[in-house]
Amino acid sequence: MSAVVAIFGAGTGLGASLAHRFGREGFSVALVARRRARLDALKDELQEAGIPAETFVSDFDDPSRMKALVTDIEARMGSIDVLEYGPVSADLAFTPAKDLDAQALSALVPLFLLSPVELVAAVLPGMLERGRGSILLTQGSFAVTPLAFVSGPAPVMAAARNYVHSLHGELVGTGVYAGTLAIGASIDRSEMSVVAAAAGGGGSDGRGSVDPDDLAELYWQMHTRRDVVEIVHPSPRMPMTDGAAA
Ligand SMILES: NC(=O)c1ccc[n+]([C@@H]2O[C@H](COP(=O)([O-])OP(=O)(O)OC[C@H]3O[C@@H](n4cnc5c(N)ncnc54)[C@H](OP(=O)(O)O)[C@@H]3O)[C@@H](O)[C@H]2O)c1
Repeated sequence: MSAVVAIFGAGTGLGASLAHRFGREGFSVALVARRRARLDALKDELQEAGIPAETFVSDFDDPSRMKALVTDIEARMGSIDVLEYGPVSADLAFTPAKDLDAQALSALVPLFLLSPVELVAAVLPGMLERGRGSILLTQGSFAVTPLAFVSGPAPVMAAARNYVHSLHGELVGTGVYAGTLAIGASIDRSEMSVVAAAAGGGGSDGRGSVDPDDLAELYWQMHTRRDVVEIVHPSPRMPMTDGAAA
């Protein structure tokens, strides 16, 4: 049975590139998101490339469903060897910190903190027993570098980032790796970039753009080398593809 990468938040941007990158290495791919038609289209694309894939419809706004979701994936595909978590919607809005309150912030906590913790809790015992596995958490770079007027999801992502850093240290020597990739640019081919382009933003959010194939390559390096807990991309000193300053 081939190794399994489970992509929690599988869309046309990073999710698709990750599926192809790990698929090229012989992984089977579990694709998870809410809209079946888009998942099925990605599954067909992967199968045309000779990559086995299965789809799972789930909403990560409900952390109580995560354990059953993992059970379902592992029953159909075998143990999850690589877990990547990076859901995002085109309508995700950053807000000024001064406009936040408990109600607004707590609405973001299930998706950006509780569900990834639940998923890790579900896969980690098996990974530790097998002595191998990778847990990869994708974030916006605002989780690492706070910025005025860009709050809301950012502090919740920062909490999840903090959790992954602790996890990384606790897993040293077990064969299981945890790391996080923080992205500070618009991802080409993602629904977010398509919506921004349609709205006249040129597909970029003003921070430049990155090719998700390059991000997937970074994740492959993190998974195989297992020596860094975090990469911020583009690095603050790296020129953007559209020439914007970092
Ligand atoms: N796109 C960007 O420009 C950008 C910029 C900086 C950082 N990032 C980060 O990079 C990562 C990948 O972004 P991407 O745009 O390339 O993603 P993607 O792989 O193109 O798609 C992510 C998928 O997550 C799914 N999703 C959203 N909310 C969900 C929920 N509640 N439950 C289940 N699935 C859900 C969406 O599908 P459904 O709607 O069908 O569920 C979406 O297609 C994310 O962590 C994001 O925060 C993205």
